[in-house]
Amino acid sequence: MLVNGTVVDIAEPTQRLLDFLRDDLGLTGSKEGCGMGECGACTVLVEGEPVCSCLVLVGQVDEREITTIEGLALSTLHPVQQAVIDAHASQCGYCTPGVVLSLAALLVREPNPSDEAVRNALAGNLCRCTGFGQIIEAAREAVSGP
Ligand code: FES
Ligand code: FES
Repeated sequence: MLVNGTVVDIAEPTQRLLDFLRDDLGLTGSKEGCGMGECGACTVLVEGEPVCSCLVLVGQVDEREITTIEGLALSTLHPVQQAVIDAHASQCGYCTPGVVLSLAALLVREPNPSDEAVRNALAGNLCRCTGFGQIIEAAREAVSGP
């Protein structure tokens, strides 16, 4: 498995990807919320597509490329991360890694998405703190640049 550009060996194919990332690799940016595919706090990118890591076993993605929030931007902040800061689109931050990864994947697919496309991209990411207005504003800022 390739995680954030580094080849890693898996030990237990039936381990959840979320647990492997957090417990074995120390990548704690991915959070556990519901543990059943409904909140998106555990979102990671598999081959660039957002996936709930609580629903995936490592054996299912052993040959795949995984990107976590820690690997999204290794030296400077990703434009979506900066836009989330600028738009005050994070409070507790629990949902934020998943939101950022979902938006970053959207912008690769659709460099200038409509608000509807942004809402659709975030359909699997629940935020109970900030409200989605500021998150959508962050997506607009990420598109328009500084
Ligand atoms: Fe995976 Fe909620 S913890 S979707
Ligand atoms: Fe708290 Fe989104 S910032 S759940």
